[in-house]
Amino acid sequence: MTLALRWHVLLISFLLGTSAAFAADNPTPSTHATQLAQRPGRAGIASANALATEAGFEVLAKGGNAFDAAVAVASTLSVVEPESSGIGGGFMATMHIAAGNRDVFIDARETAPAGVNAKDYLNADGSPNRDTSLKGPLSAGIPGEPAGLAWLAKHYGKVPLTVSLAPAIRTARDGFKPDSRLLGAIQEEQKNLQRWPASAAKYLPNGKVPTDGEIWRDPEQARTLELLAQYGQSGFYSGETAQKLVDAVQAAGGHWTLKDLSSYRVKERAPITVDYHGYKVITAPPPSSGGVAIAEILNILSGFDLSKLDEVHRVHLVIESMRRAFRDHNDYLGDPDFVKMPLDMLLSPYYADGLRQTILPDKATPSSMLAPSNGVDPGMHTTHFSIIDADGNMVAITSTVNYVLGSTFVAKDTGVLLNDEMDDFALVPNKPNVYGLLGSKANAPEPGKRMLSSMSPSIVIGPDRTAVIGSPGGSTIITQVLEGILAFIDGGDAHQVVAYKRFHHQYMPDVVSVEPGAFDAATSEALTRMGYTLKDREPWGFMNVVIWDRRTNKLDAASDPRRPDGLGKVQ
Ligand code: DON
Repeated sequence: MTLALRWHVLLISFLLGTSAAFAADNPTPSTHATQLAQRPGRAGIASANALATEAGFEVLAKGGNAFDAAVAVASTLSVVEPESSGIGGGFMATMHIAAGNRDVFIDARETAPAGVNAKDYLNADGSPNRDTSLKGPLSAGIPGEPAGLAWLAKHYGKVPLTVSLAPAIRTARDGFKPDSRLLGAIQEEQKNLQRWPASAAKYLPNGKVPTDGEIWRDPEQARTLELLAQYGQSGFYSGETAQKLVDAVQAAGGHWTLKDLSSYRVKERAPITVDYHGYKVITAPPPSSGGVAIAEILNILSGFDLSKLDEVHRVHLVIESMRRAFRDHNDYLGDPDFVKMPLDMLLSPYYADGLRQTILPDKATPSSMLAPSNGVDPGMHTTHFSIIDADGNMVAITSTVNYVLGSTFVAKDTGVLLNDEMDDFALVPNKPNVYGLLGSKANAPEPGKRMLSSMSPSIVIGPDRTAVIGSPGGSTIITQVLEGILAFIDGGDAHQVVAYKRFHHQYMPDVVSVEPGAFDAATSEALTRMGYTLKDREPWGFMNVVIWDRRTNKLDAASDPRRPDGLGKVQ
């Protein structure tokens, strides 16, 4: 802990006159080995769209493993769920490789182009320009998803991209019926889509939002996917596709160059692991803030036995832990290739011990007493899928184009809808982004830098059961995944874990966002008396989970009930 921070924690303790009345022992070290000698013998896939889940099974049947299935699921989602993720965006994957018993993290996050200019995201009065950061080519980072898919196939898969991308290419070429969510997203973004001719041509055929039941084709994306299948990463990042992307972006006022594309690299990083009451949680390192925050929260909570507490005090401790982790998120985190972060401190159980001391047993800590740092605009436009294959390989992938339909900008002749991930940078210091997240220099935009993410794809290995878990949700990704992990540790099956009602606190604004029905009237009243401001919020969820019960050797896959188009399946 830095001196300044230690002083800060002590000061808070003093100001709050805290006690550690709730604190129990230090975290319990994990007693089991990660080695999972068994194999499930069957596979489980849960994703936000039934066509994507089936594409994964199709590639498994062709001899592929979980990583090939992940390529098939992600690329099919690019076609059928473009409002959430796609080849114009990026993803993060937490994976367990059964042979060799290794856990790895794949960072296929977008990067800022070399020509990034902070002034592009400011209005004349210095306020954040949400149009340039969220719409059109200036809002788009250099995509990471195509490189990530090629990386998965090359380093971890068993079949070539021509096989694993085939279902997506077929679906794009032959067509599919868009689900109500995609139609709703097009309706919502109609005005923005009309600003760019290639976007309007793709999403508003005949100038109108497609109607329910209409077959919808995407031949340009099919061609772009074919080049990726044929040539791997260079099939997207150089040659025909790269030239078309750069031409389209520059013609519309963006700064991408061919060099930005050809220099894009996937990064393989060590995942963050944390032991919590005998469960090993394997999760996302920076440039995601998710794993650091989840680890910090679990480290604080590991000093309590939540199962022995009544609901009000359990929720109180979880919210206070979230509050403290999000404060650190705003101050310290960014792209590890650009910023030095005090990860040893943030992940240390001793640091968590200090933070735990600052939690009052029966009272909310106002965020203003913890230090500096605003509004959450919800939106569920990212996607997460989970896979366990018959050999015990596991993949948790969260993939995004950021906000609904990303930048709404489609690059002419490519079918590629570009992301609006630049808004995930702290474009204006201490002004909230679209998810109300604040940031500092650590997450300021720089050429080639990856913007901080909340994506938290995770694998949880317990004494008897294993879960592959994740969710979309902007800043609420972190807290939703945390709550899913706690529900799993409490013994929940896959359907219970995805259905569990959610709540969220992110330090600022100092409000607990609550899914209607999460708390009964008595709990809400008690929390309000403790000083919490509770605010109902929708939407939540779209979590997709696969659980392997190693005692019975049974798989269980579930897709969030809040989303009717998802499919969790075991076969
Ligand atoms: O990487 C991130 O944290 C965001 N771009 C994720 C956006 C998101 O989850 C949108 N809605 N659910």
